Amino acid sequence: MRAMPIPSDHPLLLRIVDDLATHGWSQQNLFLPLALTGELAAECRKRAAEGELAPAAVGRGPASEVREGIRGDHIQWLEPGQADACDSYLSLMDSLREALNRGLFLGLEDFESHFALYPPGAFYRRHVDRFRDDDRRMVSAVIYLNDAWMPEHGGQLRMYLEDDAAHDVDPVGGCLVVFLSGQVPHEVLPATRERLSLTGWFRRRGNDPF
Ligand code: OGA
Ligand code: MN
Repeated sequence: MRAMPIPSDHPLLLRIVDDLATHGWSQQNLFLPLALTGELAAECRKRAAEGELAPAAVGRGPASEVREGIRGDHIQWLEPGQADACDSYLSLMDSLREALNRGLFLGLEDFESHFALYPPGAFYRRHVDRFRDDDRRMVSAVIYLNDAWMPEHGGQLRMYLEDDAAHDVDPVGGCLVVFLSGQVPHEVLPATRERLSLTGWFRRRGNDPF
């Protein structure tokens, strides 16, 4: 199914922009339509079954390496034109990118995103979503794809906000979390069941002349 594009001045997007401007993060529990969440989850599972997801690496470029003691998820980067559900997601994120640019003057030029599957017991230790040698990532956006997730399943996203106060998000299907990539340390707690998500980053243009 290809969902209708939404305009960049949609009230939901304006709320996210406002949250980011005032707090540096936003949580929208009912962001994705249920049908699209289901299709994206099915697409993620299909790719996993076909062996297309690979252990995620830590770091960037030649120095990147798989370290399960830091992060244990399996990922696949998204490309446009592969599946209608993925294209609907990318179109939604593009509307959000426009809304962010209009409201916050961030100059966001592109969006990179991947499916992530955490097997039971996998986690991602506390980190910030920005590389030491590359500050193009400005805003992180995570959408969860899990059916009937209960708090006792674990797998919370734990964000460390002002004064290091922790805010936990259950990875419930359809929920979107957005935060400033360079400013919000966070971690993924281990879960008792498989945990699916789509994680992406809005990027501004780099200083790199090449
Ligand atoms: C990440 C990340 C959070 C989540 O992939 O960098 O922090 O809740 N993901 O999946
Ligand atoms: Mn992260």
